Amino acid sequence: MFTAPPEDSIDRSGGLRPAGVGSAGSASPWWRDAVIYQIYVRSFLDSTGDGIGDLAGVRAGLPYVSKLGVDGIWLSPFYPSPQRDHGYDVADYKAVDPVYGDLDEFALLVADAHRLGLKVVLDIVPNHCSSEHPWFREALAAAPGSEARALFHFADGKGEHGELPPNNWRAMFGGPAWSRVEEADGTPGQWYMHLFTPEQPDLNWRDPRVAPYFDEVLRFWLDQGVDGFRIDVAAGLFHHPDLPDSDDPGADERTRDSVNPLAWNQPEVHGVWRRWRAVCESYTAVDGQDRLLVGEVSVPTAAEQAAYVRPDELHQAFFFHLLSAPWNPDAFRKVIGEALRDIAGTGSTVTWVLNNHDQVRTVTRYGSDNSAAGAARARAAALLMLALPGAAYIYQGEELGLPEVDLPDEALTDPIFLRTGSRQYVRDGCRVPLPWSGHASPFGFTGADSTARPWLPQPGWFADHTTDRALNDTDSFWHLYRNGLALRRDFHLRGDATLRWLETPPDVLAFVRGDGLVCAVNFGGQDVPAPVPGTPLLASAPSPAGVLPGNAAAWWAADPPGAV
Ligand code: NOJ
Repeated sequence: MFTAPPEDSIDRSGGLRPAGVGSAGSASPWWRDAVIYQIYVRSFLDSTGDGIGDLAGVRAGLPYVSKLGVDGIWLSPFYPSPQRDHGYDVADYKAVDPVYGDLDEFALLVADAHRLGLKVVLDIVPNHCSSEHPWFREALAAAPGSEARALFHFADGKGEHGELPPNNWRAMFGGPAWSRVEEADGTPGQWYMHLFTPEQPDLNWRDPRVAPYFDEVLRFWLDQGVDGFRIDVAAGLFHHPDLPDSDDPGADERTRDSVNPLAWNQPEVHGVWRRWRAVCESYTAVDGQDRLLVGEVSVPTAAEQAAYVRPDELHQAFFFHLLSAPWNPDAFRKVIGEALRDIAGTGSTVTWVLNNHDQVRTVTRYGSDNSAAGAARARAAALLMLALPGAAYIYQGEELGLPEVDLPDEALTDPIFLRTGSRQYVRDGCRVPLPWSGHASPFGFTGADSTARPWLPQPGWFADHTTDRALNDTDSFWHLYRNGLALRRDFHLRGDATLRWLETPPDVLAFVRGDGLVCAVNFGGQDVPAPVPGTPLLASAPSPAGVLPGNAAAWWAADPPGAV
């Protein structure tokens, strides 16, 4: 039943990949197919009893992460910050917010992670800083046209008295992308640009002081031993130099303006990534260890994304099109095919992601039509992701099968909600502190004797998803992820970018990796015959012999290798 149609095969092995790209000459650098676990520090584990996760908590939880079998951790921002966007508003790029710990605690964390064989990737936010950053405070105090204001995008308003914003761009988190300041004499003055909240002023990367400042930030953390950076808003930084109005007819009404081509994805940004790559390579030249740059690159197509992962730019860029694909085989096959053709096909690696701290969790997202199916589909999608060539990221709680939490309005803290009053894009529901143990909140997240509650309320049903339970239940999400990660290693898929689609019935996708790992996903609700002969390795649902259940995925070892 499953034969390979040659016109639809994708084989990226061997010659297509430039030897040693981005590495100190090694054939397959560690990051090309690494699996990184994203730790949202506020919500991972609280060591101090204040209801907020912290670095000592992360350190205490490292053995749990290591047991899962990932290659490293990405830590969400823990820098001093007024927390208007939960740390993505950085007031000091070279320190630790006391809420999360201090630099000594960070050093211990890095040492422990490395002892466990885990890489440490920090989150860095170069598009904007906090309005509490010293640069912005100086800019506010300084006069229009001053050097201090040149570090940001200050402009005079339109209208008779400058009462209208300089252009019609919208902020991602609602409202105009501009706020007006009061000048030193108390009069209404210039406007400054912020593509997110007003407390996150955009930096002006055309000012020659900005790039060297961030070089220093990178070096500061690299000197502390970090292994790389996740780059926030990596398609941002530069805007059209004239800041013209957007001619998108919907621009005035839309609350989020993620597609304004004047505000994002400008050619100059690539120069920054080349510069950052050079900083990383200067460390590699000393010790031979690759440092990783992974970008949050939200651009419309895989082909545009490929430009960000050219050999002298970022190592990885999250491929969000998989995350946004609806649960159907055509959508999945299309985005996977595009990624492999346009990104892997140019010699880079695809970086797959199904969940993060900004997205509705897969269990809920795939279950909008049928909540029972949501968990089954999330499990299947996980096996699919882990079988694909390239790197992958797992967001804390994904390995516990956590659904999104439906929080009441009064509990919401996301600036998107606070600024728009709309729950449509609200992200608190995927950020609720992790359940570790026990039957009631705080579920071991914070000490039981603590008077503080977790910063977002945990629902009672979290009891079904604690790490303790997951580790003791071999049918849990956790064991599925762990087994998938182990098999991925055992199958020697590292460094191999081959994927060959198999012919399947309409509801099923199947492909072969290397010389014999078959992954098949049944997107339909009905059982189908097991796709290929061979030895079953792992399935996302109990699978009677010869059957691939509905909303399930399975891996087989082709027997003999190359038989399919
Ligand atoms: C993307 C981050 O993932 C998100 O959490 C943040 O709010 C925005 N960038 C702005 O920094």
